[in-house]
Amino acid sequence: MVNLDSRAGWTYHKATKHSHLSVRTNRHFLDWANQPLPFKIYPKLELIPLPRKFREVAAPALRAIAEVRRRESAVPDLQNLSQLLYLSAGITRRRAWSGGEIYFRAAACTGALYEIELYLAAAALPDLEPGLYHFAADEFGLRKLRAGDFRGVLAEASAHESSIAHAPLIVICTATYWRNAWKYQARTYRHFGWDNGTILANLLAVSASLEFPAKVIGGFVDAEVNRLLDVDSEREVAFSLVPIGQVPDATPAAPEDLSPLGLETVPLSRNEVDYPAMRTMHAASSLPSPKDVAGWREFASVARSKEPAPELIALQPLGDKDIPADSIEQVILRRGSTRRFRREPISFVELSTILDRSTGGVAADFLEPFGTTFNDLYLIVNAVEGLASGSYFFNRERRGLEPLKAGDFRSQAGDLGLEQELPADSSVAIFFLADLERIFERFGNRGYRAVQLEAGIVGGRLYLAAYALRLGASGLTFYDDDVVNFFSPHAEGKNAVFLVALGKKAKPSGLPA
Ligand SMILES: Cc1cc2nc3c(=O)[nH]c(=O)nc-3n(C[C@H](O)[C@H](O)[C@H](O)COP(=O)(O)O)c2cc1C
Repeated sequence: MVNLDSRAGWTYHKATKHSHLSVRTNRHFLDWANQPLPFKIYPKLELIPLPRKFREVAAPALRAIAEVRRRESAVPDLQNLSQLLYLSAGITRRRAWSGGEIYFRAAACTGALYEIELYLAAAALPDLEPGLYHFAADEFGLRKLRAGDFRGVLAEASAHESSIAHAPLIVICTATYWRNAWKYQARTYRHFGWDNGTILANLLAVSASLEFPAKVIGGFVDAEVNRLLDVDSEREVAFSLVPIGQVPDATPAAPEDLSPLGLETVPLSRNEVDYPAMRTMHAASSLPSPKDVAGWREFASVARSKEPAPELIALQPLGDKDIPADSIEQVILRRGSTRRFRREPISFVELSTILDRSTGGVAADFLEPFGTTFNDLYLIVNAVEGLASGSYFFNRERRGLEPLKAGDFRSQAGDLGLEQELPADSSVAIFFLADLERIFERFGNRGYRAVQLEAGIVGGRLYLAAYALRLGASGLTFYDDDVVNFFSPHAEGKNAVFLVALGKKAKPSGLPA
């Protein structure tokens, strides 16, 4: 099977590393006249407007972020659906600038380029006919691509994964190469996982607060899902599925006839530049049949084998009684990436709460049993009251920090974060590193998608937890090998995957980098 030949995965990963040299020798520039549209638009289909008023959900955000709901029977209605979509991928803020207007969304996204599209496969729901729909974020509505119940196609494509087979609603997330590659070139394939992940962090938290079970599914027959959506898979590909809710009966079989739709869409820009390395990576991580999907899911989880820590500083997180009461809606609506941090400390209780609530486990088919994780968290602590400045490893199982090196590493944090001020000024920079060798070995190239996706989800939770505590956060990019060297020998053999900085917000300024 192509997926298990990890040479393609390694080739892509190595070719898209950032180093001081690669950044300085890259002649890429932003062609503003050719900037892609941040929305997919089907101009000929009628819009089904979604209700903009929702019932307020009382559960505190910090509980929703950490929780997984397992209600026996749960079917979302149209209002729930609107709430799920709005708080995951809806437009929450608009800002004018010299080049026009930026529509910021509920979840953070590299470069505010919003390359992730959401589609729905729905059974008959209260106030919604069964169908396959596209979510039009710009107009806040749905467009029906196919009439009828198509969940069976996804059940088959996922080799009858049980949460898919019993879900009244399945969200399908796709990623569009050019929309993000316009700025980030071939590194965009990593961004697919990051930017899909932050959306999923919101979607999972909102689902939990509405008491709907939800799970991330990374294993499916790519070609079948792409065919259902009728996307041009040279340009847009299905990346993850999220079944939401639960019904006792398994979904009806897929319809025999899945004819192409041939629907018109508005071109993203005048012309598109192709970065074949990403399509090669996608093909190499694709699963051709339900048998391959079932096999992929069965691979044992990546076992943790860390030596017992010589010294551990136990987290001191807030308990449920003491967390702020703010709901997940309130937190999502006030979230926005911090553009500047004040060089002031956060408390150890705040850091502990953010880590604790974000790392309890992600419900995903590639992270079984629940609680399995691909990414290890390494910290540069610049300013945390009650914790010495220096670098740390977060021992997730033992819920504590292992000190690695003591000292002031602000300037190194800035340097590792692509020479940006954000990680230098932040209180804590949290680096995600993963043992890619083991992940490729067990999960093949598809594991690469999964490791980026998990990072995006946990990173998205770090954002939400920080904002729930009225702190700031920003995702960041990084110099790959320098990060690993900095945390070595502890991190030897791992690879850098993701970075989030946390701290206190300074007055906003400037546009996204
Ligand atoms: C994975 C990730 C990496 C990011 N990297 C950077 C970065 O290197 N520098 C930066 O200033 N902002 C970075 N951002 C922040 C985005 O620019 C920001 O999310 C986007 O402009 C949307 O704005 P919002 O988060 O305020 O809604 C990153 C965001 C994510 C999710």
